[in-house]
Amino acid sequence: MKYGYFDQKNREYVIDKIDVPVSWTNYIGVNDMCGVLNHTAGGYLFYKSPEYHRITRFRPNGVPMDRPGHYVYVRDDETGDYWTLSWQPVGKSLDSAKYVCRHGLSYVKYQCEYSGIFGEQTLFIPLDDPVEIWDVALRNDSSSKRKLSVFSYAEFSYHHIMIDNQNFQMSLYCAGSSYKDGIIETDLFYEAEGYQYFTGDGGSSDNSEKYFDCLRDEFIGPYRTETNPIAVEKGFCSGSFELGGNHCATLRKTVELEPGAQTRLVFLLGEGKREDGKKMRAKYCMSNFSAVDTAFAALKNFWKEKIDKLQISTPHDGMNTMINTWTLYQAEINVMFSRFASFIEVGGRTGLGYRDTSQDAMMVSHSNPKKSRSRITELLKGLTTDGYGLHLFSPEWFEKKENAGFKSPTVVPGFNKSQYVHGIKDACADDALWLIPSIVEYIRESGDISFADEKYTYADTFDPETGGGMEESVFDHMKRILDFSDREIGPHGVCKGLRADWNDCLNLGGGESAMVSFLHYWALTHFIALGKYLGRDIKKYEDMAVKVKKICEKELWNGSWYTRGFTSSGRAIGVPDSKEGRVHMESNTWAVLSGAASPEHGKAAMDAVDQFLYTPYGLRLCDPAFSEPDDEVGFVTRVYKGLKENAAIFSHPNPWAWAAETVLGRGDRAMKFYDALCPYNQNDKIEVRKAEPYMYCQFVCGSDHSAFGRAHHPFMTGSAGWAYFAATRFMLGIRPDFDSLIVDPCIPVSWPSFNVRRVWRDAVYNITVENPSGISKGVKECKLNGKNVTCGKEGAQIPVQKAGSENAITVVLGT
Ligand code: NOJ
Repeated sequence: MKYGYFDQKNREYVIDKIDVPVSWTNYIGVNDMCGVLNHTAGGYLFYKSPEYHRITRFRPNGVPMDRPGHYVYVRDDETGDYWTLSWQPVGKSLDSAKYVCRHGLSYVKYQCEYSGIFGEQTLFIPLDDPVEIWDVALRNDSSSKRKLSVFSYAEFSYHHIMIDNQNFQMSLYCAGSSYKDGIIETDLFYEAEGYQYFTGDGGSSDNSEKYFDCLRDEFIGPYRTETNPIAVEKGFCSGSFELGGNHCATLRKTVELEPGAQTRLVFLLGEGKREDGKKMRAKYCMSNFSAVDTAFAALKNFWKEKIDKLQISTPHDGMNTMINTWTLYQAEINVMFSRFASFIEVGGRTGLGYRDTSQDAMMVSHSNPKKSRSRITELLKGLTTDGYGLHLFSPEWFEKKENAGFKSPTVVPGFNKSQYVHGIKDACADDALWLIPSIVEYIRESGDISFADEKYTYADTFDPETGGGMEESVFDHMKRILDFSDREIGPHGVCKGLRADWNDCLNLGGGESAMVSFLHYWALTHFIALGKYLGRDIKKYEDMAVKVKKICEKELWNGSWYTRGFTSSGRAIGVPDSKEGRVHMESNTWAVLSGAASPEHGKAAMDAVDQFLYTPYGLRLCDPAFSEPDDEVGFVTRVYKGLKENAAIFSHPNPWAWAAETVLGRGDRAMKFYDALCPYNQNDKIEVRKAEPYMYCQFVCGSDHSAFGRAHHPFMTGSAGWAYFAATRFMLGIRPDFDSLIVDPCIPVSWPSFNVRRVWRDAVYNITVENPSGISKGVKECKLNGKNVTCGKEGAQIPVQKAGSENAITVVLGT
């Protein structure tokens, strides 16, 4: 069953059957302010941190689902009938009302046709100002003159989510609201400068009490919900405001429309005092709202510039749609807002996850080099001199402590070494290893060679008072990470599993993790490549790589596939005679992807992945699922079968398998795996998938579960970044090196050709790949602007071209 379609021209996903089974979400804002909104305008807004700086309230995991939101009510003042421009919260019968939601890149449009009135509400945040714009359009499509009232509604939150949700003896008495000159202001009285405003223009209103409500309970009324607010039912507000209580943003405007006439209203929601609201109103509401149009066009252009960095045209419509728009978008949103703002992660546990952020930063270095770099530097400062990263940390901890003066309860807690530098017992074995490839890929993409010698502090050397401390180069930080994994090994010489590796639920402690050793090897290959390019002495690490590879083959190849690890008592996990968890994705894909596996063992390992883990909805994380609690293995054995890490189709590692298959040269197998997980392919299977088909989800229920195929936790997952990386760099094979662009595809044999437009270091590369003999991998010939270019085992190597140049590249596959 289908609920919508991909609008390629506008780069929107259009939901035209609005009663989707679960919330289908989107993110607005690309800098400091962010809104998480669903298809019915439910959701919330925050500034920088969803934990410490919430602007609007959300009732997570609630009934009815996903309320409140940022709503516009319309009331026919002659009949008393009313509705919202988003289907919910009023929820008009879909027999008489037509609702559409258009999820665009950092904006959402809610459209409604009801009772002869067409209405549209667009929500977005301009690039230049932290203010949420509600751009509302109304048109009278009926044959009679209409008199309408328009009401805005959003519920304000206290800034600190904890205080807002738990500490009512405080929060209910520490915020006040007032109305003046068309502007609602809330004052978070306990904070030094905690203010929010709501204002707008368009339609008619005056300053009398019928035109505003600042108190939620006055607007909604007792024994009612957002579905039937008393103010809307009556047709006018009550002019409520108070010091203390729950506050809302309701302005009422009246509108009269002749048949065929249209009008526009704009509302503005932001941080700051009434004066700030006034300034924003002056900026955005003058001259027929032309500044709103300019800001919206600038936002569109912001995304166009990113998207234009890499555009593909292949025989696969789904891949084109996902890579050209949605997968990049999802990867970018993860880098911008990490994992902690969604309808699942509701903002009570924020900061940067070391491993997630390290991986995210690697995926958008071409489209967001500034953000990749700044995330990498934040992570470098979150590394300890022991060489492990702080699993979860706030980058603000490593900024110089300014004299805060008044200490509000909502300020982000400062850095406290003894609390946050927790020691190896709590370290995750993989966290910092991910940072090495991210740094190297960033340098390959940008050519920013000097970055390797920039100096940064460590978490345990940082002094918050001075903002300084012992510093070392980026290159030296990388050495400490590699040395940590070299040191922290178990009896087989394989890296210890510690608190966890990539798999949060595999808690091997002093036991050993194959995945970490393979990742160590992968990080070493990146570091060695960089060291060689920079002409540094890296002998120690070359020897380390040889040793790690040898240990991996000797200790982890079990004759059929790659073992997942060893428990602290020395029991092997993921071997042919394991009763449960016999075959695992992480060890087998990483054996191949890291380059540590021999081709023969690599093929057998990936054949086992195909045989035991493949399903039509993607690859499961392991097989068979665990059913007996076993604390030596970890929490995974206490998770229901087929959910999350216990044999669900965990999306994030799926692209590792696509990439691994391309290392083996098996383009058809890579595409089979790509297709199984691809959300686009499930656009017409929503009765199974339930979740949005434009986003990868964290996991899809596995075959052991009664809801096999149902996807959970959209948007905030590293799956998109990896999907993008694996598809573009491994399947389409276009990857930057230090001074050449490599083209080394591995595609289905049925593809006759494909094209890619790639911007790299400010030059354009228009690449055509031809496949006359129907093979998957192997470059026979390459021409750059008509001249032959070196081709080798690694594919074609196109030298860096002059910034500003446009270049034609033709690559012919063959043996
Ligand atoms: C989600 C976590 O954010 C991520 O760090 C982890 O790798 C996966 N779960 C798998 O456990």
